[in-house]
Amino acid sequence: MNTFKPFKMASYSQNWPTNTATVMHSSNPEPFSWHELEALTQLDLKQILSDCPMAYESTQGSPHLREQLISAYLPTLKTNDLALTSGAQEGIFLVINSLIEAGDEVLTFTPCFEPLVSVAQEAGADVKLLELDQNNHWSIPWQSLENAINDKTKMLIINFPHNPTGSCITPIELERLISLCEKQGIWIFSDEVFRGLEHRNQSRLQSVAELYSKSVSMGVMSKSMALPGIRLGWLATQDLKLMQRCLEIKSHLSICQSSLDAHITTHILPFTNLILKRNLSIIESNKEIVKQMLVNHSEFRCSLPHGSATAFIELTNHPAEDFCIKLLKEEHIFVMPGPAFLTDHSGFRLTLGKHQAEPIYQTIFKSDY
Ligand SMILES: Cc1ncc(COP(=O)(O)O)c(C=O)c1O
Repeated sequence: MNTFKPFKMASYSQNWPTNTATVMHSSNPEPFSWHELEALTQLDLKQILSDCPMAYESTQGSPHLREQLISAYLPTLKTNDLALTSGAQEGIFLVINSLIEAGDEVLTFTPCFEPLVSVAQEAGADVKLLELDQNNHWSIPWQSLENAINDKTKMLIINFPHNPTGSCITPIELERLISLCEKQGIWIFSDEVFRGLEHRNQSRLQSVAELYSKSVSMGVMSKSMALPGIRLGWLATQDLKLMQRCLEIKSHLSICQSSLDAHITTHILPFTNLILKRNLSIIESNKEIVKQMLVNHSEFRCSLPHGSATAFIELTNHPAEDFCIKLLKEEHIFVMPGPAFLTDHSGFRLTLGKHQAEPIYQTIFKSDY
């Protein structure tokens, strides 16, 4: 009997009248259209695709693309330290099911991207949730973390820049996390799908997989690169035994990612900086709009993000689900309520990644709810 439960986020989307709504919670920046991507990169995408062999790829993925990803994101690692996955969602399943056995304890922070918790629970882990400190830019609750670590702790899952709050940590904080885990032999699973979307004045962290041998870093084309139509992610680790186990499990799932996706990614990666610049310009300008709208607002509050493409907006007077369903029914705008991120804080995830979002923000933040 499988134990797969529906994700809360999927349940809201299915059970609420979201079909005709404007979606305002996406964690990816506005996805590129074919034409916009061609205009930005000057690539002839049709020609590129027509040159692609429609064959299976190897399970670990094309060595050329892996080499490109290593040199772009994890330059101190080797090509064989990285495997391609069909999206980050597959990566989460592979890492957790490779490492977790029933009874292991896993630590992570909330609010959070729910699959990071539920996939671990489904694998038999006892997942301890530690609330990020909302009063201090959703920062790490160090004392709770230190108290929670014990002999059974197998893994710490982190995700910075963070979904949904957009909080970031400093290199010194990352060092502190690594040193805590190293002392106890704890794995770090670092979900780095928003790496590259650090806002102005926020420095980019080095990939955890480069810094700590008992860790895995994960990236994907859907988030920082705003290309969710390309189902391609990657896992990187120095631990070749773990890599082997992930590949064995992958051969039960997608076997390999789409060769079309891999082929097009090879051509797009050299334009990473241009793409990130386009994404950050949408995000920074929406962040400023939201910041202005929330000045002295009596019903909404936000600790503004320092990275990623979303903000967590706190509600001062309403339970999250009531607010979100009212906004959906009356204004046909869909934002994702706090419980989808396993938090009791009343609030919702708002995208900062959408083009021409100002009038929609105006509707969301009008004060007659
Ligand atoms: C933090 C985080 N990790 C992983 C994923 C999964 O990415 P994908 O849907 O592209 O597989 C998401 C998607 O929202 C995410 O927010």
